[in-house]
Amino acid sequence: MEPLHKPIILVVFIFFFTLFPLYLSSPTSENKDVPKPTPWPQQFHSIMFMNYSGSLEMIDLWYDWPNGRNFNIIRRQLGKLLYDLEWNNGTSFFYTLDSNKECSTAQLEVGILRPNWLDGANYLGQQHVDGFLCNVWEKVDFIWYYEDVVTKRPVHWVFYTAKICLSSAGREAHVMTFEVGAVLADEHWQAPVYCFDKKQDEQQQPTTISASQQLQQRSLSLLNGGFLSGSMHATAESI
Ligand SMILES: *[C@@H]1O[C@H](CO)[C@@H](O)[C@H](O)[C@H]1NC(C)=O
Ligand SMILES: *[C@@H]1O[C@H](CO)[C@@H](O)[C@H](O)[C@H]1NC(C)=O
Repeated sequence: MEPLHKPIILVVFIFFFTLFPLYLSSPTSENKDVPKPTPWPQQFHSIMFMNYSGSLEMIDLWYDWPNGRNFNIIRRQLGKLLYDLEWNNGTSFFYTLDSNKECSTAQLEVGILRPNWLDGANYLGQQHVDGFLCNVWEKVDFIWYYEDVVTKRPVHWVFYTAKICLSSAGREAHVMTFEVGAVLADEHWQAPVYCFDKKQDEQQQPTTISASQQLQQRSLSLLNGGFLSGSMHATAESI
């Protein structure tokens, strides 16, 4: 009996310490293979080409999480240069710096996008976009986000607005540059004095923000909070 026992014990031993743990871990190892979106860097600068239902814009995005601020400098095709300055306390300023001195403010319940705002997005697989092989995620049936498989940089995202307004237009961003760690100097984050000039505001026709601006602010609420805030106060309709 002695010579037979030893191999059996050995087989049982091998099973428990090698094969059995492998068997137990196999369901979870599948989950680990699902790619997760890379969180946004704490600070970055990105130039983006936007296509909003056929209207083209070039946006300089300065994302600055540690200082609680986000800046979109928007160049409409052959049109206005608009400044969209958002603070994490929910206040945002939308203004021009030309002689018209237009400015509107909005107060949202949520602040700027968190660096991990893509947490909880559903992985949809890989797709070629703008010539890059990308991992694709979708969040709250609202944004489709495309990240370069190799460099992990964002390449493209699309907001589908059907969820937050009646038209079903898409708002597409194509990321042209992505400078991690780039910071815009403090002096550029100051909204012009006429944004604070209540008197002038009352005399003029109500200052206005664009539909796309409102949309963007609603998007922010949706993505940050996962729900739509009912109490978005925008001062008006369109610059
Ligand atoms: C912009 O998007 C529209 C669809 O909304 C598309 O027809 C058009 O070709 C796009 N324009 C550019 C320059 O990509
Ligand atoms: C939010 O912060 C900005 C910049 O510091 C400031 O101008 C604005 O008044 C603040 N808003 C509120 C509601 O405190």
